[in-house]
Amino acid sequence: MSTGHGIASELTPEEKALDISLRPRVLSDFIGQERIKEQLRIFIEAAKNRSEALDHVLLSGPPGLGKTTLANIISNELAVLIHQTSGPAIERQGDLAAILSNLQPADVLFIDEIHRLPRTVEEILYPAMEDFKIDIVIGKGPGARSVRLELPHFTLIGATTRVGLMSSPLLSRFGVSSRLDYYPLDEVVSIVRRASGILKVKVDEEGCLEIAKRSRGTPRVANRLLRRVRDFAEVKADSVVTGEVAIGAMSLFEVDEAGLDVVDRAILSTIIDKFSGGPVGLKTIAAAVGEEPDTIEDVYEPYLMQLGFMKRTPRGRVATPGGYRHLGREGQHRDEKSLF
Ligand SMILES: Nc1ncnc2c1ncn2[C@@H]1O[C@H](COP(=O)(O)OP(=O)(O)OP(=O)(O)O)[C@@H](O)[C@H]1O
Ligand SMILES: [Mg+2]
Repeated sequence: MSTGHGIASELTPEEKALDISLRPRVLSDFIGQERIKEQLRIFIEAAKNRSEALDHVLLSGPPGLGKTTLANIISNELAVLIHQTSGPAIERQGDLAAILSNLQPADVLFIDEIHRLPRTVEEILYPAMEDFKIDIVIGKGPGARSVRLELPHFTLIGATTRVGLMSSPLLSRFGVSSRLDYYPLDEVVSIVRRASGILKVKVDEEGCLEIAKRSRGTPRVANRLLRRVRDFAEVKADSVVTGEVAIGAMSLFEVDEAGLDVVDRAILSTIIDKFSGGPVGLKTIAAAVGEEPDTIEDVYEPYLMQLGFMKRTPRGRVATPGGYRHLGREGQHRDEKSLF
């Protein structure tokens, strides 16, 4: 069975452009996550006062919550350059050495998906982070020699959706570690309102609320839904997004009142209908719904678990009574059945 892509999955090139255009540039424009902002504000201020590089920062949490945005904001606030790369893009030690040797003092090096750095690369990152020097081996065989590279003091910002996959030596080298969590409803409402101002979409209070409720606590999803609802409103509703228009649009896009899309519901119904509620393995679910196991683990599962519709057990994934109820299968859950 192929379900196509849901509202929470990969971005089209157009949506990537939207992502960038809606990105807050300064800390004061970044909505919510107050504790993290407060901490960063203090660290940034202190580093600037001492004219030193900021401590290395690790940003973790589910996709679309603002890790890349925050990394860019930090470099903006520090008034330094940001050099952006990602774990899988750095294949060899030499690749990292080349990037590091291009840094100016206090610059930010942003490594996205840092949990996917190859081990050999990670090993030279340790002394780079700690002592701002690296030893690399140039050449092969008898002619090989080791060269020491002195680096300027820089700030590494790492982003990861999977902090659990990171090694403890790497984790321990970050002075600041911030975990972003799903945003509460009132903050998502503010995010929708901000984006509608930038995109010049007319949305009333009810419209904002209905979009926010279905945004899975995720700014990126909120922005995406807003754009799709706008398209719908332009064609069907005189361009004004009211609560009713938002609800109509969302049911057309098959986003339900809990913010679940076709893929989320396919995952739940696979567990419930094909595997009697589980436990069932991740790969089996992935094959059944036609998504990558990694995508399911990164994007879909965290939200289904957050809603309490699904659980991870040592033997596999299981649907909870809440998950059964959401699909309208009340009373079919084993624990509930056994009550009768
Ligand atoms: N706190 C916020 N306030 C306003 N907008 C936000 C906020 N956080 C994120 N956004 C918006 O959500 C979009 C997605 O954020 P971002 O790209 O930073 O997420 P991410 O955590 O890096 O995701 P991924 O793990 O997929 O790389 C941004 O383009 C921005 O418009
Ligand atoms: Mg990102």
